[in-house]
Amino acid sequence: MVSLSTPLLGGAIHECGAVNLIMQDAEFNYLSQLAFRESGIVINESKRDMLYGRVMKRIRHLKLNGFTAYCQLLQDSYAGELSAFINAITTNLTAFFREEYHFDFLKKVALANFKHHNQDKRLRIWSAGCSTGQEPYSIAMSVQGQLPDWDVKILATDLDSEVLWRAHQGRYDDLMGVPLHYRSQYCADMEHQHRYGMDDEIKQLIAFKQLNLLSPWPMSGLFDAIFCRNVLIYFDNETKRKLIQRFYSKLKPGGYLFLGHSESLQSSNTKFKLVGQTIYQR
Ligand SMILES: C[S@@+](CC[C@H](N)C(=O)[O-])C[C@H]1O[C@@H](n2cnc3c(N)ncnc32)[C@H](O)[C@@H]1O
Repeated sequence: MVSLSTPLLGGAIHECGAVNLIMQDAEFNYLSQLAFRESGIVINESKRDMLYGRVMKRIRHLKLNGFTAYCQLLQDSYAGELSAFINAITTNLTAFFREEYHFDFLKKVALANFKHHNQDKRLRIWSAGCSTGQEPYSIAMSVQGQLPDWDVKILATDLDSEVLWRAHQGRYDDLMGVPLHYRSQYCADMEHQHRYGMDDEIKQLIAFKQLNLLSPWPMSGLFDAIFCRNVLIYFDNETKRKLIQRFYSKLKPGGYLFLGHSESLQSSNTKFKLVGQTIYQR
């Protein structure tokens, strides 16, 4: 367990109502080390305010009197608060058809390739770090109807249990980014709730599961494509390097890895071939 040594002086003072709430350096170090060990997420000095704000929400929610009590709670009832802490520190920004060129490539190039090579008529895609679900639903809408009679499954995983639950619900306040023809085909207007729901036809293609990318992966088969976009940016180089190797071994020969727009493999020593904008092929 990461240990919390005697709090040091030197933390920034933040006003919170009548109370001065201070995050001591020792508390910052404890929380950032815990985040790194449990999720691989690097929280350095430049993200101190982000950590402060997110943990403060937990402190208020739990009606604690500050960071010392919060760190103590994490130490005393480790598993109880740990998952809420991890949920609090993940960044879940996502969108339907984010980096649209990836979905064009999937539909026009990758599917054509799979049709040619997959004699068994099976397609397996993994959305690793799926957040609230817009990514796997965008994959599902792109694939649905393209491979009649195929066995198509999309695995969507995330470490954060809260976003995963929302992804599984498949209900959204808006459908920004979803092309109009998909909206009419696959999204239902839940009039009374002012929300939109993904149709069962799309939902049944996806299995949502909680998975920490740092842990062993229980999936036995290989994937035709892995989307791990805008996740690696939160990790250090060593974690990224190991994950890239593990993704390589989880792809079928000829399978594709889709990364986020700022996550190139240029500096990594990798066997992947660059075949599109942050699209790599095994
Ligand atoms: C910024 S979102 C990216 C969502 C989506 N892939 C996209 O590009 O729109 C990053 C996601 O990675 C997840 N994540 C962070 N660390 C993780 C880990 N160690 N294992 C699994 N998921 C993780 C976060 O919970 C978050 O939902």
